[in-house]
Amino acid sequence: MNAPLHVWHPFTQEALDPPPLRITHAQGAYLYTADGRRILDAISSWWTNLHGHCHPAIMSAIAAQTQKLDHVLLAGFTHDRVEELAACLRKILPRELTSIFFSDDGSTAVEVTLKIAVQYWQNVGRPQKSSIVALEHAYHGDTVGAMSVGARSAFSEPFRSFLFPVHRVHSAYCYRCPVGKTRATCDIDCVAQLARLLEEKHAEIAAVIVEPLLQGAGGMIVHPQEFLQRVRQLCSEYGVLLIADEVLTGFGRTGKMFACDVAGVVPDLMCLSKGITGGVLPLATTVCTEEIHRAFVSDDRGRTFYHGHSYTGNPIAAAAAVASFKIFENEPVFDRITAITKIHQQRLAAIENHPAVADVRSIGTVAAIELRADDPGYFSRLRPKLYEFFLNAGILLRPLGNVIYILPPYCITAEELHFVHDRIAASLAHIPEWSAPPRAQAAPRA
Ligand SMILES: Cc1ncc(COP(=O)(O)O)c(C=O)c1O
Repeated sequence: MNAPLHVWHPFTQEALDPPPLRITHAQGAYLYTADGRRILDAISSWWTNLHGHCHPAIMSAIAAQTQKLDHVLLAGFTHDRVEELAACLRKILPRELTSIFFSDDGSTAVEVTLKIAVQYWQNVGRPQKSSIVALEHAYHGDTVGAMSVGARSAFSEPFRSFLFPVHRVHSAYCYRCPVGKTRATCDIDCVAQLARLLEEKHAEIAAVIVEPLLQGAGGMIVHPQEFLQRVRQLCSEYGVLLIADEVLTGFGRTGKMFACDVAGVVPDLMCLSKGITGGVLPLATTVCTEEIHRAFVSDDRGRTFYHGHSYTGNPIAAAAAVASFKIFENEPVFDRITAITKIHQQRLAAIENHPAVADVRSIGTVAAIELRADDPGYFSRLRPKLYEFFLNAGILLRPLGNVIYILPPYCITAEELHFVHDRIAASLAHIPEWSAPPRAQAAPRA
């Protein structure tokens, strides 16, 4: 008999990481393991889940949809669920964003958006505007285009020769200010580099892509709103498109429906995924202005956007997204978001002066604690210790190296959230021991 097919897990080093935990079911903020444990999902299962696992309204919308239409291609066809979802999104998106293109996940949303931006300039007769500007510490996904605009890292290193070149500019990482300022004295001086670049090279630049206000995988870096506002002004001034990758920040994470709303900024293109279905099924969208969309409508077929994924606009995923949207309308979701925000602020203030803590930052429902470490970054030796400590306490937290963060589903209760903060506070006592470099092995005797 053939050996069973080995399941290869994402972002996992089998030689070093613990074996995967078997989850049998999930409810609300909890995951339940086959060996009878209950784990508080304090990172919303990779930032996807909004209202809690197996929310009955989403589950029954999916069940109902499965009885009507499972899937149909979206080229040459349409169906009620994508139309309904588009109508729902119309109510919450900036009115300047008028067209929606469906895809599957955050990375494909980014690929689609980059391709639309580049082809837009070709279609309007300015093909020389073809390069992209991206931020330091950026993360936009794992496909090749998304990796190209993401910061170069150990993740992208094996593919270095595949990645297209981008102009890389400073991000507003205030704790490690790229221009040596402090927040109290700065005038968003980090944006000057982008200003110089656009002044010099705008004729060849198609777009600037940002994770608005919150760079997630790069370390939960919270930007001042003025940074995004200045990026918007510069893009408008120099005729460059602004892409807001709201794959993580969308659907309330930063306190308003979109991070762009928090800063009062309207991008030219926006990528959405993760929470769009309440975090239940894969679905993504790129939304853009009428001006961009119009450049693709022509009796010249060469202007068509020849891009599409098999499951584009899947009716079951769209039904889940519509149901999630209705939860925003029918339940006090933003009250929950406000309650989470307040607890984060209060609890971070209580630990910010702890000797193990380098920086605390929060925006809306996301809280991050950057720990002091002599090996900061994703591969910090603190990370596996912290992961295990929290898991033993019944909490799923996946620190980004020396950065612990909480990004909970909105259904988390005050008591549960305080419990997570309590365990994080308790972990701080162990940091000196966990961050000590491994002792050099004694040399074998000759
Ligand atoms: C800002 C941002 N963009 C894109 C992605 C990629 O999304 P996906 O993992 O669904 O491909 C992520 C994933 O974490 C993200 O945080």
